[in-house]
Amino acid sequence: MRRGLIVLLLTLALVVSAAGAAAAQTLRVGVNAAFPPFEYIDDETGEYVGFDMALIREMAARMGMEVEIINTAWDGIIPGLLAGHYDVIISAMTITNERAQAVDFSDPYFATGQVIVVHAGDDSIQTPADLAGKVVAVQIGTTGHFAAERIEGVASVDHYQFAPEAFLALKTGRADAVVVDELVAIQEIRANPGELKVVGQPFTVEYYGIALRKGREDLLRAINRALAQVRADGTYDELYRTWILGE
Ligand code: ARG
Repeated sequence: MRRGLIVLLLTLALVVSAAGAAAAQTLRVGVNAAFPPFEYIDDETGEYVGFDMALIREMAARMGMEVEIINTAWDGIIPGLLAGHYDVIISAMTITNERAQAVDFSDPYFATGQVIVVHAGDDSIQTPADLAGKVVAVQIGTTGHFAAERIEGVASVDHYQFAPEAFLALKTGRADAVVVDELVAIQEIRANPGELKVVGQPFTVEYYGIALRKGREDLLRAINRALAQVRADGTYDELYRTWILGE
């Protein structure tokens, strides 16, 4: 009798913990999905695609987790994490000291920098200093926005909710230049050949990280382990070729 009770209790405990594990198996990922080639919505399939989306899916698979993508405004993506709307952010997010006060970051997974994009025929802008007197379009709250504001004498830094809106401002003549992450600039130029160009070299040094709430040490360790795995087994390089080099 006693024995039966113990078996029953043990079985119950197993069922309850299995349910708990199943519930914990979804990694909720916050993203601002308008930043090709890192995160965007495929026009045809309506799916979230890009380097970051592929990377987080590969990492989650190694963590034994499902991915749920939650598309959100960039302006507010960190508050949304802190409020618990998702577990992590992967969104071409530069690791900065300021952000690191509010959130923890994974190991860096991508090195990049800000570049200046202008009309293909514009030779008046070669360096950041040449932006003096010009109208610069940026995505609000990005490191491009912050970098543009540090350049002396810029006539106006116009900020937009989405990166594609900043490019549109340039294309339609409302802005003289866009300051944005290098690979995003290259992607935009690839999509509109002959219209725009990147001038010079990246003028900042930045690393992307995956953000999570402070104090989630287990998740942070699991994320870094999964990242190291996809790097070591060649998956990272494969994703790089597909999404960054466009092979
Ligand atoms: N790397 C820049 C930053 O961290 C821009 C990121 C914008 N990402 C996006 N998905 N819109 O500020």
